[in-house]
Amino acid sequence: MTELASDSDAMMALLEAAGEREIDIVPLVFDRFFARHPETRELFPNLEAAAGRMVNETLEALVGLADEAWWVDTTIINFVDLHRNFGTISEAHWHDWIDMTIDTLAEAGGDEAAAISKPAWQAQAARMKAMIDA
Ligand code: HEM
Repeated sequence: MTELASDSDAMMALLEAAGEREIDIVPLVFDRFFARHPETRELFPNLEAAAGRMVNETLEALVGLADEAWWVDTTIINFVDLHRNFGTISEAHWHDWIDMTIDTLAEAGGDEAAAISKPAWQAQAARMKAMIDA
């Protein structure tokens, strides 16, 4: 098994594995999320425009947390604030979104890459959830 220097290296390995397999996870994450929370579908008047940005920002902020990036706290505060305008979003919605994004990425990257990388994603997910809940 490959040794990876840091959580963010481990996380990037899964992103690269999913990229190499040319799987677009954006629709897959939304399918999964709407299957669990169908009531949220009507909150997205312009799903096509928001979908890619929402998945990308989730992944970027998780990698930013792993890197202790200077911008990441502000990014998380900003997107939580922004979402207050979008309707009632519960703690379960936030948590499931984050988990489902990671689960979908892990499936897209394949078992081998997921085995190496998923724990690093999950560690940062736990931090992100705690920040959102606060
Ligand atoms: C880490 C979690 C999340 C991140 C980083 C995130 C990020 C984003 C971004 C970047 C946008 C696009 C904003 C724009 O285009 O101006 C967006 C839109 C949106 N997000 Fe999220 N999001 C997250 C979780 C959620 C959750 C859990 C919900 C629950 C339903 C949600 C509901 C929405 C809605 C309703 C929109 C607007 C859609 C529209 O205008 O059509 N988001 N999100």
